[in-house]
Amino acid sequence: MRTQVVIIGGGPSGLLLGQLLHRKGIETVILERKTRDYVLARIRAGILETGLVNMMREAGVSERMDRECFVHHGTCISYENEMFDIDFHKLIGQNVIVYGQTELTHDLYDAREAVGAKTIFEVEDVKICDADRDAPYVTFNSGGVEQRIDCDFVAGCDGFHGVSRTTIPDTVRKDFEKVFPFGWLGILSETPPVHDELIYANSNRGFALCSMRNENLSRYYVQCALTDKVENWSDEDFWDELKRRVPEAIADKLVTGPSIEKSIAPLRSFVSEPMRWGRLFLCGDAAHIVPPTGAKGLNTAASDVHYLYEALVQFYQDNETNGIDHYSQKALARVWKAERFSWATTNLLHRFPDQSEFDLKMQRAEIESLHYNEVAQKWFAQNYVGLPY
Ligand code: APR
Ligand code: PHB
Repeated sequence: MRTQVVIIGGGPSGLLLGQLLHRKGIETVILERKTRDYVLARIRAGILETGLVNMMREAGVSERMDRECFVHHGTCISYENEMFDIDFHKLIGQNVIVYGQTELTHDLYDAREAVGAKTIFEVEDVKICDADRDAPYVTFNSGGVEQRIDCDFVAGCDGFHGVSRTTIPDTVRKDFEKVFPFGWLGILSETPPVHDELIYANSNRGFALCSMRNENLSRYYVQCALTDKVENWSDEDFWDELKRRVPEAIADKLVTGPSIEKSIAPLRSFVSEPMRWGRLFLCGDAAHIVPPTGAKGLNTAASDVHYLYEALVQFYQDNETNGIDHYSQKALARVWKAERFSWATTNLLHRFPDQSEFDLKMQRAEIESLHYNEVAQKWFAQNYVGLPY
């Protein structure tokens, strides 16, 4: 088999890249380790920056998103009983939209199927070969049969646990990592959202987040210990804890109900450099992870897709390698800014096991500066809605 670009991983990065390239007449094959249903069962965040929204439109996959999404002009931050709004629209004339990653992935799969582009599911033993030479190829096992695809380029969109990153030799690759000493316990419930904007809550008992998917589907999180087990958190315990971490007026309005999903995720910051090795390009979670506090995971994956898409189109249409040559530097420059924002908001809003009273005073002073200082609010707003590509 031969194609122009082999895309490893059928998550949002791989699917969006594939769809954009298809629209420019560039052929791709996606290799996905799981089934489509498995990929679509993953619950992830749902805040989209304008850059990603525009790419969905350019990919021709925005019809349902444009119809069903909520536009959010700002976000709320609370500390104990105080709550304030950071009004993106007023501060910088921009907004974000709420549309679940699951829905976005669904739309991308439907679009890929509709144009007849090839996706091979349940592949095993994917190996990327000769990525540092002129004629790379990928081997894999599908249904017990060894296969090989020759290609011009390989896009490693296979997430944190994929094979792409580790194909780059240790002598070339450097990883940077910070693991946070807590996790987020999240639940999804078929209840109306407690507020019309997201609420990021700092409290003595730890962080909490009130988020949503639609008018009858809410997503809530509380910071928990890494040793906590989902089984030990009843729905009732969860709601009680959430109510203690948000302002009273919010707690009083909260509509509770049975959870339809409950899980614990650890928080980590991670970046692997470089993001290109010869004809192999890393995109999304394959190259970097952010703690979810700034909702930057999917959006940072999207900015990589933007730079790679631009580079590949330049290569195929104009025979120009400038975009390819500078992909890693360009993508990483933006990645590190998203890492900084996610790390800073995580530090601002969580309780850390080793926090001294002085540290708590500093955290409080920083939150108050965000509450009352418009310059600080503008910085937050610019980062939250997404820095320009
Ligand atoms: N071979 C083929 N596919 C693989 C392999 C492999 N060896 N390893 C992993 N995959 C697949 C996974 O099954 C998954 O479907 O690659 C896909 C990667 O998808 P994601 O992990 O969702 O990563 P990405 O597409 O980069 O999405 C961006 O950023 O913070 C997150 O929530 C955000 O999931 C979103 C992500
Ligand atoms: C979510 O809705 O799951 C969500 C929203 C914002 C975040 C993280 C997660 O920062």
